[in-house]
Amino acid sequence: MNVTIVYDSVFGNTGTIAKAMAEALAPDHQVRLLPVAEAGGIGTDDIDLLVVGSPTRGFRATPAIDAFAGGLAGGSGRRAAVFDTRLDLEEIHPAPLRWVVQAGGYAAQRIAGDLERHGYSIADSTGFLVTGTEGPLKAGEAERARAWVRALVE
Ligand SMILES: Cc1cc2nc3c(=O)[nH]c(=O)nc-3n(C[C@H](O)[C@H](O)[C@H](O)COP(=O)(O)O)c2cc1C
Repeated sequence: MNVTIVYDSVFGNTGTIAKAMAEALAPDHQVRLLPVAEAGGIGTDDIDLLVVGSPTRGFRATPAIDAFAGGLAGGSGRRAAVFDTRLDLEEIHPAPLRWVVQAGGYAAQRIAGDLERHGYSIADSTGFLVTGTEGPLKAGEAERARAWVRALVE
C-alpha cells in the first residue's frame, strides 16, 4: 500500500509518533513521511492512505496543518486517517481545567472535518497522550501508534 504521513510538531512528540508509524509500515509498504513544511502541493493521486497528524494547540491543529488540510485537492473518497497529540487529562491540574481542555476539543477532529469536506473518507481518528506541554509521550504511546497504523493498512 502507498501511505503518506504528513505531520507537524513543535516540541518533537508528534514527530516521534509519525516516525514510529512510518517505521512500523516500512517493511511491507511504500511510506512517505513528510513534515508539513515539505508537504505543500504534494500529488495525492497515487496515495492509498493519507495520514495527517498535529499537536493539539488551543483545541485545534497548528496553522501549518490547517493550511495543508484546507489546501488539499479533492479526495474523491480516498482513505485518510488523522491523529493528534494532546495532554493526558490526568496530568492537568486543577481538575476543573480538565473539563475545559476536554470540552474544547482536539486537533484530530478538526483535521478530519477539513479532510471530509475535501472528499476524503476518514478511516479513523485518534489522539496520543503527552504528560506535559513539551512531552514526553506517555509510556506506551509510540507502540500504540505502531499498532494503530498497522491496523489501518490491514
Ligand atoms: C500554546 C499551546 C496550546 C495547547 N493547547 C492544548 C489543548 O488545547 N489541548 C491539549 O490537550 N493540549 C494542548 N497543548 C499541549 C500540546 O498538545 C502539546 O504541547 C503537544 O502535544 C506536543 O506535541 P509536539 O511535541 O509535537 O509539539 C497545548 C500546548 C501549547 C504550547
